[in-house]
Amino acid sequence: MDSPATKTPLRFALMASGRGSNALNLLRYAKAHPDLGVEMPLLVVNREDSPLCQASHHEGAEVLCIPHRELGRKSHEAKVLAALEEHGIQHLLLAGYMRILSPDFVRRFDGAILNIHPSLLPAFPGTDGIGDQWRHGAKVVGATVHFVDAGVDTGRVILQGSIERQPGEGRNALAARVLKEVEHVIYPRALRHFVDVLLPLNLIPQKE
Ligand code: GRF
Repeated sequence: MDSPATKTPLRFALMASGRGSNALNLLRYAKAHPDLGVEMPLLVVNREDSPLCQASHHEGAEVLCIPHRELGRKSHEAKVLAALEEHGIQHLLLAGYMRILSPDFVRRFDGAILNIHPSLLPAFPGTDGIGDQWRHGAKVVGATVHFVDAGVDTGRVILQGSIERQPGEGRNALAARVLKEVEHVIYPRALRHFVDVLLPLNLIPQKE
């Protein structure tokens, strides 16, 4: 194993679709913590209308906007894969990436894709985790960082965090607090746990 002084940085890409606060938070975290031993040279975005696509770089990462519209799933993923390979990417951080990855794509990065979902999985999987928690009247609401497998929000949990819902708190206020007080806190922590503990000890989901 490399000694800390000579450790080769691990190469991560981020994948996002929307406003990108988690992606930017992770990019800033990696930049501010060189001891983590992580490089993030690439940010892949699948929607042209994402504000992330308005710049060529964010925090040193090249922004690659590859809209999925007009491309079938296969061609879109082939383009994304080619870019990831060209940049020597080993691991992926999904940060509000609102597109299901095909089983072939997941297999290619088996045990190497992390995602954040705004609920305490396995409760409330799917596209509106926050809304579902809010409508259900959950008193404790949260978010989960998990490995991505071939299912939807079914991969093994790495880290969860939660807050208590305030009396009368509306859906949007709750979503904003979960984002700031939970998601932006647990994703960098889960990344560090993945890099410092799970990878070195090979505690990652086994390849099928
Ligand atoms: C977050 O709530 C994340 O958990 C979910 O999508 C949202 C993305 O927000 N997967 P942002 O684009 O990172 O601000």
